[in-house]
Amino acid sequence: MTTLDISLLPWQQDVLGTLRLNGGERDAGDSRDRFSVVAAGRRTGKSHLAAVSLLLSALDDKPGKTVYVAPTAPMARDILWPTLFDMGGDLITNSNVNNLDLTLVNGSKIGLRGSDRPDTLRGLSIKHLVLDEAAFVKEGLYETVLRPALSDRMGSALFIGTPAGRNWFYDLFMGARDGGLHDHKAWHFTSYDNPTIPKSEIDHAKNTLPGFAFHQEYMASFDAAESEYFKREYFDVVDGPPTNPNGSISAHGEHYIACDLAGFKGNGPRRDKSRDSSAIAVVFVTDDGHWYVRDIIHGQWTLNETAQKIFRSVDKYKPVSVGIEKGISQQAVLSPLQDIMRRQHRVFRINELTHGNQKKEDRIMFALQGKAEHGLLHLCDGDYVEHFMDEALQFPSRLVHDDMIDALSYIDQLAKTSYAGEIVTDTWEPMDIVAGF
Ligand SMILES: Nc1ncnc2c1ncn2[C@@H]1O[C@H](COP(=O)(O)OP(=O)(O)OP(=O)(O)O)[C@@H](O)[C@H]1O
Ligand SMILES: [Mg+2]
Repeated sequence: MTTLDISLLPWQQDVLGTLRLNGGERDAGDSRDRFSVVAAGRRTGKSHLAAVSLLLSALDDKPGKTVYVAPTAPMARDILWPTLFDMGGDLITNSNVNNLDLTLVNGSKIGLRGSDRPDTLRGLSIKHLVLDEAAFVKEGLYETVLRPALSDRMGSALFIGTPAGRNWFYDLFMGARDGGLHDHKAWHFTSYDNPTIPKSEIDHAKNTLPGFAFHQEYMASFDAAESEYFKREYFDVVDGPPTNPNGSISAHGEHYIACDLAGFKGNGPRRDKSRDSSAIAVVFVTDDGHWYVRDIIHGQWTLNETAQKIFRSVDKYKPVSVGIEKGISQQAVLSPLQDIMRRQHRVFRINELTHGNQKKEDRIMFALQGKAEHGLLHLCDGDYVEHFMDEALQFPSRLVHDDMIDALSYIDQLAKTSYAGEIVTDTWEPMDIVAGF
């Protein structure tokens, strides 16, 4: 008798149980998703799950091909060819190791392919697709070649891999995890989720490998290598600036607000994922040079939202100085900001911040690194802290945005300018807002 002899680890069961294998429309009451995105550590059992899903897909008599894609065809063969035979046994009636196709008893075919040869992936009608080691599959291949091949069968897809920094696989994972991508589900597992590997073995790796390597490979972390410039211990998270018993700030100093604007979201539904965010940094700077970061508001906003957020921050913190990085976005926001000022009867002056022909990395380094290293940079607890740390600890990685850290670095320019110009400018005097820039 021909049977499929499979064993599944608990996490593999969870993933397979929630995947609408071979796709199709979702029936009422069916909560499974057509696309699964699995980020998992090394040796977690990713390829094993891939093989099971391929066999189950092909054993279903639905028309269409079942396809497995690894970064290269030799990899596909090495990883999966023997495993499929071990698992499939007598169910496999025909195979061709040259083109890596095999046929099951019901006539259904499974093909193994390499993502480096897109020509071998065209013209297919796929009912179930597995992309293994997805982080190493070339960006754009799925969208342009594989996704269309799923359309006539409304086929399912399993994306599975160990992260390799923040590339397209990271974007896909985040889109699936945060619900932005319809009919997608994201999963995250670590090598500890494979009970066939002794925990002591993974602990040994943890104690002997560089932290970054262990986190990426075993813990399936998408973080890039830690920055050489900013270390976690440089930043202390505090409740707020030092206070008097009555709650007022006891340290001598002033608030400053610096904005780094990154263009504006259109009013339509489309969200631009890749564009940088705008950031508004609010800092209390003491006379002896300590910075207390009160908040760094950041996001992708429309022009009006941006103006409102700047106005509200100024209204709340009453800074002695407000600056916006010079550029097209700064010019664009001035008009709606002036409208709000007029309506609210609160007028403040906007300083123009310039990068002074310095490279962004250098500017950020000069402004922040020494401060951070000498314990002068304090983060007041809030929602922004986690995101900010992520940016700082990975600076200057190209994989991670630096909007928040950039906005914060501009505080340096403001605080200095304002000391120098203290005698001649009273920034809180109402003035002609049109001529004031
Ligand atoms: N359901 C299972 N039952 C028994 N053993 C399993 C199961 N799943 C995985 N394993 C074992 O765990 C080990 C790792 O499996 P697999 O090669 O699938 O992991 P992987 O995550 O693809 O690894 P890599 O990161 O090296 O690609 C193998 O020895 C495999 O036999
Ligand atoms: Mg594998």
